Amino acid sequence: MTERRQEPLRYRDAGVARDYDQLRQTGWVRRRREAMMRRLLARGLAGLAPGSLVLDVPCGTGRITPWLAARGLRVIGADLSRDMLGEAQAKVAGVRGCLGLLVGDAAQLPFADQSLDAALLVRFLHLVEDAERVPLFRELSRVVRGRVLLHVGLQAWTAKRLLRRVRGVPLKPVKVQWKPLLAQLEEGGLRVERVHRKLPFASTSVVVVCRPAHSVQGA
Ligand SMILES: C[S@@+](CC[C@H](N)C(=O)[O-])C[C@H]1O[C@@H](n2cnc3c(N)ncnc32)[C@H](O)[C@@H]1O
Repeated sequence: MTERRQEPLRYRDAGVARDYDQLRQTGWVRRRREAMMRRLLARGLAGLAPGSLVLDVPCGTGRITPWLAARGLRVIGADLSRDMLGEAQAKVAGVRGCLGLLVGDAAQLPFADQSLDAALLVRFLHLVEDAERVPLFRELSRVVRGRVLLHVGLQAWTAKRLLRRVRGVPLKPVKVQWKPLLAQLEEGGLRVERVHRKLPFASTSVVVVCRPAHSVQGA
């Protein structure tokens, strides 16, 4: 089994799930990064009507699920890991707009064709092998009638990476590259509408807003 194939399984662990938020949200830098990610997602969601039905997949520990509901959206969270969903449960319980959580594979969703207004994939694509991305995008374009938002760290030159390169420090591989991603989206039936960048040359994070090809044709 390749390293990338094993990585999603890491989250099927109570300890990993329990520590997940703590590792991402403690400290000023991380909190700032989190706030910037939400701002970027908010730009991608702009114009979505209140009450729109949105899928947060994978929702993990529910890091953004209640935040989406607080924006007036009706949200369903889905994830492969029961441990991650266990952490999410406490956050969504009783929250207006959070319709429920389900155990499920993002590439095999239990929804009817074009039944969702939007789907958000946050910090997920780096876990999905190239060969598995087209079937994933096909499934999203089947169930979504509106837009699909992908929050990803793209292969790009940032000041930090350039500095590392100059110093001869080995660079961490970035798993999502723009050109192959564009081709995979196209083959999976998703058209890129716009890209929101966090901070060019300071961060590799972007939110890619796509529309299923059927909704573009029908527009
Ligand atoms: C890095 S976490 C991201 C979770 C959440 N979106 C966030 O930003 O905090 C990756 C999540 O993907 C889930 N996952 C991995 N493969 C999946 C699949 N095929 N379908 C649904 N969830 C999956 C894992 O269980 C884990 O909760």
